[in-house]
Amino acid sequence: MDVIYLDHAATTPVHEEALEKMYELEKEVYGNPSSIHSFGRRAKYYLDEARRFLAKSINANENEIIFTSGGTEANNLAIIGTALENEYNGNHIITSAQEHHAILHIMQYLQRLGFHVTYLPVNKNGQVNVADVERTLTDQTILVSVMTANNETGIIQPIEQIASLLRDHQAYFHTDAVQAYSMLDIDVKKSGIDLLTTSGHKLNGPKGIGFLYAREDVPLKQLQYGGLQEKTKRPGTENLRGAVGYYTAAKIAMENKQQNREIYSLYKQAFLDALREAEIDFDVNGDIELSIPTIVNISFPGTKVDVMLTNLDLEGVAASSGSACTAGSLEPSHVLKAMFSSRDERMYNSIRFSFGSANTLENVKDAAERVVKVVKRLTE
Ligand SMILES: Cc1ncc(COP(=O)(O)O)c(C=O)c1O
Repeated sequence: MDVIYLDHAATTPVHEEALEKMYELEKEVYGNPSSIHSFGRRAKYYLDEARRFLAKSINANENEIIFTSGGTEANNLAIIGTALENEYNGNHIITSAQEHHAILHIMQYLQRLGFHVTYLPVNKNGQVNVADVERTLTDQTILVSVMTANNETGIIQPIEQIASLLRDHQAYFHTDAVQAYSMLDIDVKKSGIDLLTTSGHKLNGPKGIGFLYAREDVPLKQLQYGGLQEKTKRPGTENLRGAVGYYTAAKIAMENKQQNREIYSLYKQAFLDALREAEIDFDVNGDIELSIPTIVNISFPGTKVDVMLTNLDLEGVAASSGSACTAGSLEPSHVLKAMFSSRDERMYNSIRFSFGSANTLENVKDAAERVVKVVKRLTE
């Protein structure tokens, strides 16, 4: 039995072209991009090319891209860097209750440092309300961070409206676009986004590389000290292989964006149709019309998330949930908790399926049949 991968929101297989490019580069271009000699200049040429493309992909300038080790590090630099550098303007930060832990745990750290953090509620559709941002803004607010699309539900957030609300306010606007970058058209200048996070391994690039877009005039405190790389904001010899692997994968993703959107929407639809046709009981969490094509979060009444995931694994379906198993007990997903009441059974029976390059229409339909089999086994 072949295993069907429906966990592209966790990570994606690296594109063949990116792999080849990285292998070639690692073998041939071993210079340090900071060196003055020809080896260094050659390495710098490749790094600059990658930076140029990634900047252009979101309509940023090259000097506004800071390479990091991934989304987590980019979020740390954006949030802590902005908070510490702008402390004298206020100590209030706004975020949402459904952010990735790579935002929420940073916020908790800042609270321990004395910052006040407002966690915006999330409605049943899976969205933050713009009016809540407006209501909670004060003259002490220095930063608002709301993700572009949620990693558990795929729901797209009203980031353009939030950015526009902040145009005449001192607060900077950061968005974690890790899940959205390859699916949505992002124009940081037009939208008024000050800081934006991406990660390579979510779009068929390598793990351990990402970038933070930081508008040129956003004051950002460096969190790491060392050399002059990345304009001192992220010192350390550059991950050239990672940057070029990321660039190669991102280029393919951007060139095929529209086609991928259509294909993955088709996969999602076919998956849901198959569940419907089998007449099993299920419910999509959040408003599917507001979601990116790659992610769907489904509640299966009468099942338990850990039992479901184990059974799916046995049937050869790799999926996941936002719930975390700690010491034998199941910690419900903070995202679903933010959307529904904490007593809602969806918290304990919801699974995230995410589509991508490891799928075909056939294997998605096959996976749906396996899901039906498991649900029937557990509920009948
Ligand atoms: C929304 C979001 N932000 C941040 C991250 C962390 O990115 P990375 O794995 O590159 O550190 C992830 C990864 O799952 C994510 O989905």
